Amino acid sequence: MEKQNKQSEPSFYINFEKVLARNIDSNISLLNFLRHNCKFTGTKEGCSEGDCGACSVLIFDETGSLAPVNSCILKVGQILDKNIVTIEGASKLSSAKPLIEALNSKAASQCGFCTPGFVMAALALKEKHKNPSESVIHDTISGNLCRCTGYRPIVDGILSLEEKIKFPTPISCGGSKLKTAVFGNTTYIYPKSKKELIEFISKEKNYTILSGGTDWNLEAEDSNFKKQKILFLNNIKEMSTIKTLASSFEIGACVTLSKFEKLCREFFHPFLDTIIRFGSPQIRTAATVGGNLGTSSPIGDLAPLFLVLEAKLSLLGPRGERTIPIKDFFKGYRKNSLKRNELIVKVMVPKTKKGDSIFSWKLSKRYDQDISTLSLAAKLKMDKNQAIENIILSAGGVGPTPLFLDKTGKLLKDSNLLFSQNALLTALSHDISPISDLRGTATYRSAAMVGLIRKMQRSVISGEKQHSIMSI
Ligand SMILES: Cc1cc2nc3c(=O)[nH]c(=O)nc-3n(C[C@H](O)[C@H](O)[C@H](O)COP(=O)(O)OP(=O)(O)OC[C@H]3O[C@@H](n4cnc5c(N)ncnc54)[C@H](O)[C@@H]3O)c2cc1C
Ligand code: FES
Ligand code: FES
Repeated sequence: MEKQNKQSEPSFYINFEKVLARNIDSNISLLNFLRHNCKFTGTKEGCSEGDCGACSVLIFDETGSLAPVNSCILKVGQILDKNIVTIEGASKLSSAKPLIEALNSKAASQCGFCTPGFVMAALALKEKHKNPSESVIHDTISGNLCRCTGYRPIVDGILSLEEKIKFPTPISCGGSKLKTAVFGNTTYIYPKSKKELIEFISKEKNYTILSGGTDWNLEAEDSNFKKQKILFLNNIKEMSTIKTLASSFEIGACVTLSKFEKLCREFFHPFLDTIIRFGSPQIRTAATVGGNLGTSSPIGDLAPLFLVLEAKLSLLGPRGERTIPIKDFFKGYRKNSLKRNELIVKVMVPKTKKGDSIFSWKLSKRYDQDISTLSLAAKLKMDKNQAIENIILSAGGVGPTPLFLDKTGKLLKDSNLLFSQNALLTALSHDISPISDLRGTATYRSAAMVGLIRKMQRSVISGEKQHSIMSI
């Protein structure tokens, strides 16, 4: 590791010291850089796919707030000028010692392989919360796997510490001031504004758009033999913020799922059922709204939510911006209507109106840290006679794209939710065309969709808040 005060070279901060990202001959992950270049081997490599949390480190966001992130699927090119804290740095902080002692006192570590990752996740929690509830702790460690201790002692260790942990102020939290940086065969391009973005996409043709990298970096190899250009969007401030207007929100494409989660807590609360199960806290620190739609996956969690909210997308190309309804965006399996050199700049989401109810449910093989097998979102409005005035249903995982369930919605409206099982099966058979894959069979998906519609029916008729996916 080389440390010195040079402005013009790619650099970032590890454990509050400046580190030059020098002599790097590949598009290296932060995990490999930490372990091989810096010899910070406390950060462990488990799955290398964002699934186990062994590689968790802390990153400060632009507001100076701490969050855990998976270093195995984060590239060095994505964190220039950012502050990172590893277990080596944390263990030197006197403020972090009580947490480590609390975990020790509850025998929360056997082989110890997972422990640095758990400590990182717990530190990010304890920086914000003095006395988090057990369920908040469960959510916090949902991205961390322990293969031998079992979770009880780990949860008890975190619960037993009744104080907040204070961290030093980060040195800098912005994005890179550089315009480009080269790592082996990979060149990162860092536009800072939409103007610079348009300039770049107007003259370049062959590049990859990168935001959080939680999808794309899984495919990208560390040493690429071919030259490649990466257009990194996250340093564009106007694309990383949420604007609140009178009747809508404008959500920048680079807004992370953690930020979107905060918006949902306030304005789209029923969607939290889905959002707090989007990957893990580590994934949500990096994953973005634009990246989720950009994958155009039929099981991406955000599409059904935005479809029922009747969101619009703002797409930017060399000739400027155009707006399309999100329903016109998905064109086929992982296909979308982006033209060459176009990208998503923001999602425009109308606020819900008085009398609107929204719902969302996600079914996956595991409760936490798993992509959906199928999902359902709904928005409905009842009139003063308690009859359905309007209903929009959308689903993921039951066709090649996220879908509207038009026939089913009509049935629910016409019958005012008092439909027969046969009528529901017939309506759904027109709307969905599930396939069998690793996540579930077509038969399971059809049956589970019936179950989700029934869950919605019960939630509305009982007038209770949304029935949780775990309630029977
Ligand atoms: C362990 C794990 C768990 C996950 N769990 C979930 C889950 O529960 N639910 C879920 O939906 N997904 C999940 N994912 C997938 C992924 O995290 C999300 O799709 C995420 O939102 C992608 O965002 P990103 O910024 O990381 O995208 P990136 O990896 O940066 O990009 C993804 C794709 O979108 C393109 N792209 C990025 N930004 C834009 C833009 N502004 N305009 C156009 N194209 C763009 C990129 O070129 C790339 O093709 C998970 C992934 C992992 C590794
Ligand atoms: S090594 Fe498993 S999440 Fe990174
Ligand atoms: S203590 Fe061994 S994996 Fe957790």
